[in-house]
Amino acid sequence: MTQEAPPNHGQRDKYPAPSGRRRFVKGLVGASALSGVTTVGGFAVDAATDQGGVGGGTVSYIGIQNIAGPANRPMPLVPLEISDGALRGKWPSVSEVTTGGDTFRIAKAELGGVTYSQQWFQYCGLEVAAGLEPDPERDGFLRSKAAYDWQSQLNDGDKLRVEHFEDYESWGNDIGSDGLGKPAVATWRSQGEDVKEIQVQVFRTPAVSKMVAGDDEYADLAGEIREFLDAATAKDFIAWVNRCTHLCCNPGYKTMPGSAKFEAADKVYCNCHQSVYDPFSPTTATFASRPRPQG
Ligand code: FES
Repeated sequence: MTQEAPPNHGQRDKYPAPSGRRRFVKGLVGASALSGVTTVGGFAVDAATDQGGVGGGTVSYIGIQNIAGPANRPMPLVPLEISDGALRGKWPSVSEVTTGGDTFRIAKAELGGVTYSQQWFQYCGLEVAAGLEPDPERDGFLRSKAAYDWQSQLNDGDKLRVEHFEDYESWGNDIGSDGLGKPAVATWRSQGEDVKEIQVQVFRTPAVSKMVAGDDEYADLAGEIREFLDAATAKDFIAWVNRCTHLCCNPGYKTMPGSAKFEAADKVYCNCHQSVYDPFSPTTATFASRPRPQG
């Protein structure tokens, strides 16, 4: 069965609004609107630098929770939006900052009450990816990278669109339970030759609306997580960088039948060393992001 999009879909009204919940999105814009938008000014910098690069340092973020195996922190969420029916990752506005005598640019903004920055993704070598250069001109659409049978109807590089997920409430592939949601693998900000790929797992699940509203089993979900999800998801879509925080393999949701042996048939499973992440349990974490090369 296909679920119609909630009426009045948009940045402010895409989910039923729990009473009394604050909504704000400040300083963050869609990729198409970012051209030429640069804020130059001083603001407190929590980014350490070293001779090898700039813009690393301790950062808090929200990701899908690691629940088993050697991975010791969540995989970071990629806030997304819908643009003319296509999925696009949000990218923060860019500021120029000076610290320790170095001046550098950083994409960083408030989103849903949380500081969202490119630093969320600076690990496992992604810090050298052109897609993590702060300036926003790169293509922000989530583009199909075939990982599931259903994605064979698309060409690699096609934009993922809402219509591709219309059966998300019933979808299944004989791994685990059907009807939990429909996944895809995509690339983000990775268009162009010889560009290091940023791989993203996309997931459309009815659980997103419940998490945002704090319904049912999500009644205890922290308010700050719900507020962030409200700003970082759209039409039941959620996404995260698909790079294991253990030793950097690409995990998958229902991509490996063997995941059942590790009670991960309905979870995100990394078969390199059997780490398991729960896509239905977003949580906050802190880590030391790696500096980007000095350009
Ligand atoms: S569990 Fe080791 S790389 Fe994922």
